[in-house]
Amino acid sequence: MVVLKSKEEIRQMREAGQLLAVCHKEIEKIIEPGITTLDIDSFVEDFLKRHGATPEQKGYKGYKYATCASVNDEICHGFPRKTPLENGDIVTIDMVVNLGGALADSAWSYAVGKISDTAKRLLEVTHGALYKGIERAIIGNRIGDIGHSIQTYVETQGYSVVRDFTGHGIGPSIHEDPQIPHFGNPGRGLRLQEGMGITIEPMINEGTWHSRVDPNGWTARTVDGKLSAQYEHTVAITADGPLILTRA
Ligand code: MF3
Ligand code: CO
Repeated sequence: MVVLKSKEEIRQMREAGQLLAVCHKEIEKIIEPGITTLDIDSFVEDFLKRHGATPEQKGYKGYKYATCASVNDEICHGFPRKTPLENGDIVTIDMVVNLGGALADSAWSYAVGKISDTAKRLLEVTHGALYKGIERAIIGNRIGDIGHSIQTYVETQGYSVVRDFTGHGIGPSIHEDPQIPHFGNPGRGLRLQEGMGITIEPMINEGTWHSRVDPNGWTARTVDGKLSAQYEHTVAITADGPLILTRA
């Protein structure tokens, strides 16, 4: 069931989203070779507490951390750990912020130190893919229009779109209807309506889209060991077009 949000609810989600965006900007400043993803996780938890917010992922379905931190071939739901990040790594930090009950969800891929030109291009295309999707998040379009636009762009660039994880409706709980696949057919699926709050979060692989989940039951990684990147925004469908809630 799709629950539409009032203007006031969207305003509150936007406040949560703006705090999240500032948090990502702070992460960008501290990411460098030698820092651990557990350090980043503590930083995020502390940052949110200082700003009167909480990390919604912690405790969600038994998940133990404030963030997901997915390095190199990890697609999503990587556990923060004590291993230092190395020069040349890419890492996606994903988090959901709860500010007074309103939620916002955003993931960002970061370069650690100096990365290869091929990794750089993957980040650029993945970031571009997010915006290809957002552009289509317009009243009257269908969910398939978002996925189709992302998939066409990504495959033209020689990369693949992860199938096993999708965007989703959001707020008051993390995952609500509808699912938002990052692949699909134009003109298919549910029609987008004013007041929908959704995430668009393409996970894009250098090689095949196939993933497998680690024995920890959470962490998905590429089956071929090649890189995966992700950018995610929470977006409201409004009469004025897509409103990106997780931008500062
Ligand atoms: N932020 C993730 C998403 O985009 C949520 C991960 S679920 C968690 O859907 F339990 F890992 F937090
Ligand atoms: Co999400």
